[in-house]
Amino acid sequence: MKILVTGAAGFIGSNFVYYLLENHQNDEIIGLDVLTYAGNLENLKNALNHKNFTFVKGDICDKEFIEDIFKKYDFDYVVNFAAESHVDRSTKDPGIFLKTNIIGTQILMDECLKYPKIRFHQVSTDEVYGDLPLDRPDLLFSEDTPLHASSPYSASKAAADLMVLAYHRTFKLNATISRCSNNYGPYQFPEKLIPLMINNALSNKKLPVYGKGINVRDWLHVYDHCSAIDLIMRNSVSGSVYNVGGNNERKNIEVVLTILKQLNKSEDLITYVTDRKGHDLRYGINADKIKNELGWSAKYNFENGIKETINWYLENKEWLENTTSGEYINYYNKMYNNR
Ligand code: NAD
Ligand code: TYD
Repeated sequence: MKILVTGAAGFIGSNFVYYLLENHQNDEIIGLDVLTYAGNLENLKNALNHKNFTFVKGDICDKEFIEDIFKKYDFDYVVNFAAESHVDRSTKDPGIFLKTNIIGTQILMDECLKYPKIRFHQVSTDEVYGDLPLDRPDLLFSEDTPLHASSPYSASKAAADLMVLAYHRTFKLNATISRCSNNYGPYQFPEKLIPLMINNALSNKKLPVYGKGINVRDWLHVYDHCSAIDLIMRNSVSGSVYNVGGNNERKNIEVVLTILKQLNKSEDLITYVTDRKGHDLRYGINADKIKNELGWSAKYNFENGIKETINWYLENKEWLENTTSGEYINYYNKMYNNR
């Protein structure tokens, strides 16, 4: 099988490339990425020399470029990870989120329609459902929960989901969607909670917890997200939507305390800062559909997954140093100074 992975130099895209190389040794993988601030070829360093992997630099919003690579390679699957992915950035500059996440998805789908054998998989997020109340742990997102996005990021992802379903219904696009909860694991850019807190703790910098730290996220190791996508894209009916999550709901402050404990750092490093605008309270996933229909299950629970992840960042300090130098410093100062 020939598989196009867009956003391949990002966090989940790079992990997915490694997942495919390990688990499908006869597949040929083309990794595409425009290399924004979040795209990093270092994430793919163990794939770049692999005989079954080719990296192509390019933009999913560039119609001619997309036409050319579809002509050049005869894809069986297109898996779309390419996106602007950070909620905080979307509150400062929504425009690029609409362009990449909606128009980029449309350009890929228009091209897929020319090759009916291609299965298009859209990597979406549980954030399209909005949030759940903190005092109703019985409520979870199911695939039928109405879309009710809160941030420009999640609204752009919800718009893309609706376009995928519209292309499926109107043009018979051969497509599937996965909506996963928060991921953690190797190669995550340190603008997101877990790697940001690990990085700050390692340099004895303050750990900026938004609001009271009581917002809840449902954490899934990136490996388990990759195994879910792989199952969905190969084994499910066109037009299907699957939620993906591992029932690992944690308050942000609990996650931060876990990190400090493992790194043997003082809780005095925690600082409570002004809350995020429109901050979603809680995400919680009902993943029964993928478990029952496709037999998916998570390999990691949060305790062993976070331990292994923290160790990965400790063993890859050079990666962390490289990703947090340069432009990252401006970003960090803009977002966190005087907050
Ligand atoms: P990321 O920001 O780490 O990676 C995104 C990648 O897309 C980067 O390498 C970037 O260079 C690339 N990219 C951006 N614009 C592009 C363009 N126009 N053309 C080509 N490449 C482009 O994000 P991530 O955390 O790996 O997320 C990947 C996908 O998974 C996103 O669609 C996101 O919405 C979704 N998702 C993420 C999470 C999570 O917890 N991180 C959870 C559920 C779903
Ligand atoms: P994040 O990793 O940005 O993912 P998302 O907003 O997509 O869920 O944030 C996870 C949670 O951590 C979210 O409730 C916001 C919170 N958070 C902080 O408290 N401090 C931080 O510096 C960051 C980046 C996030």
